[in-house]
Amino acid sequence: MRYLITGGCGFLGSNLAAEVLRNGDELFVFDNLYRTGTENNLTWLKSLGKFKFYHSDIRSYNDVENVILDSKPDVVFHLAGQVAMTTSLDNPRLDFEINVIGGNNVLEAVRKFAPNAIVTYSSTNKVYGDLEWVEYLETKSRFIAKGYEQGFDENVPLNFQSPYGCSKGATDQYMLDYNKMFGLKTIVFRHSSIFGGRQYATADQGWIGWFVKQAIDIKKGLLKEPFTISGTGKQVRDVLFADDLINCYFSAIRNIDSTQGKAFNIGGGYNNSLSLLELFGELENSLDIKMDFTRLPVRQSDQKVYIADITKANEIFSWAPLISKATGLQRMINWVGTV
Ligand SMILES: NC(=O)c1ccc[n+]([C@@H]2O[C@H](COP(=O)([O-])OP(=O)(O)OC[C@H]3O[C@@H](n4cnc5c(N)ncnc54)[C@H](O)[C@@H]3O)[C@@H](O)[C@H]2O)c1
Repeated sequence: MRYLITGGCGFLGSNLAAEVLRNGDELFVFDNLYRTGTENNLTWLKSLGKFKFYHSDIRSYNDVENVILDSKPDVVFHLAGQVAMTTSLDNPRLDFEINVIGGNNVLEAVRKFAPNAIVTYSSTNKVYGDLEWVEYLETKSRFIAKGYEQGFDENVPLNFQSPYGCSKGATDQYMLDYNKMFGLKTIVFRHSSIFGGRQYATADQGWIGWFVKQAIDIKKGLLKEPFTISGTGKQVRDVLFADDLINCYFSAIRNIDSTQGKAFNIGGGYNNSLSLLELFGELENSLDIKMDFTRLPVRQSDQKVYIADITKANEIFSWAPLISKATGLQRMINWVGTV
C-alpha cells in the first residue's frame, strides 16, 4: 500500500507515518514544516525507515497535484492544517487558505489523478459550534452538559463558529460531498483533544501537553510565577491518546465499504473526560507538586463541555479507545520530560 500523509511531520501525522513504516508500507510525507517541532519529527521519522519527503505547501494546487501524480497513493491521510483557534482569529485569511483551499486542493488532485484513493480528513468537534444552547450544570471541578452527559453524537446540528470552525467545517463538508458527487472514498473524523508523543504543545494548541509542561517546570523549579488559564478551569474535554487514534485511522480504512462518505466523532469518550481543574489534580498527585495559576477571561468561542459520543465509530468499524486517560497522562509526562 502507498500512503501519502499531508502534515506528516506534525503530531498526528508523524505518529501515523511511523505506523506506516512499522507495517512496511510505502510512505510519502508532505509538509511545509510550519509548525514548531516538525523538523525534529522529520529527523525522528528518518531514523525509523525510508520514505519520500516533499517540502511543499498545501495552499499551492501545483504542489499538491505534483505529489499526487508522483506518489500515486492508495490512501491519503490529509492532516496538514492551521490548527489553532487563536491563530484563526488573528489571521482568518491564513486559516482559510490553509484549511479550505488546502483541503480543496487535495480533493481536486485526488479526483483528477487518484480517484480510487481513500482520503481521510482530520476534522474537529468545533463544527458543532460553541454549544451555547445546551444547559450546563456546575460542580466543584467541572461543567456538565445537561442531557448530553455521555457525549455529543453526530446528529448534533452543525454550527460553524469562529474562522477555525468555518474553515475546518467547510472542508469537512466538502469531503463528504466529494463522496456523494464524485464517488471519492472519503472519511471524516471529528476529533476531540488528542495527546501523546511527538506533540510539541503550545499555549494555543495541545492543552494537555502544555499543562504537563507547566507541571514539569514546577517540579524542576523552573516556573517561579503562577501560570495562567482561561476561564474557570471547569471546561471539560474528552481526551484520546495518539496510539488509539492510529488504530482508529487504520480500522476505518480497512472497513472502507462501510466508512466512506461518513463523519465520525472520535475522542476518548465519557470515561476519558477531564476538566482543567481535574487535570491539575492528577498532575499534583502524580508529580507531588502544587499547581498555582491565575485566571484570564474565558477564551472566545470556547466550548464549556465537549465529550464525543463514540458509539457510531464503534458500531461501524468496531473502534474504541484502549488507553485510559491515567495511562496516557503518565506516558505524556514521560514524553514532555524528554523534550
Ligand atoms: N491534535 C488534536 O487534538 C486535533 C484536534 C482536532 C483536529 N485536529 C486536526 O488534525 C490535524 C493534525 O493536527 P496535529 O495536532 O497533528 O497538528 P500539527 O500542527 O502538529 O500538524 C499539522 C501539520 O500541518 C503542517 N502544515 C501547516 N500548514 C501547512 C501548509 N501550508 N502546507 C503544508 N503543511 C502545513 C504543519 O507543519 C504540521 O506538520 C489538523 O488538521 C488538525 O486540525 C487535531
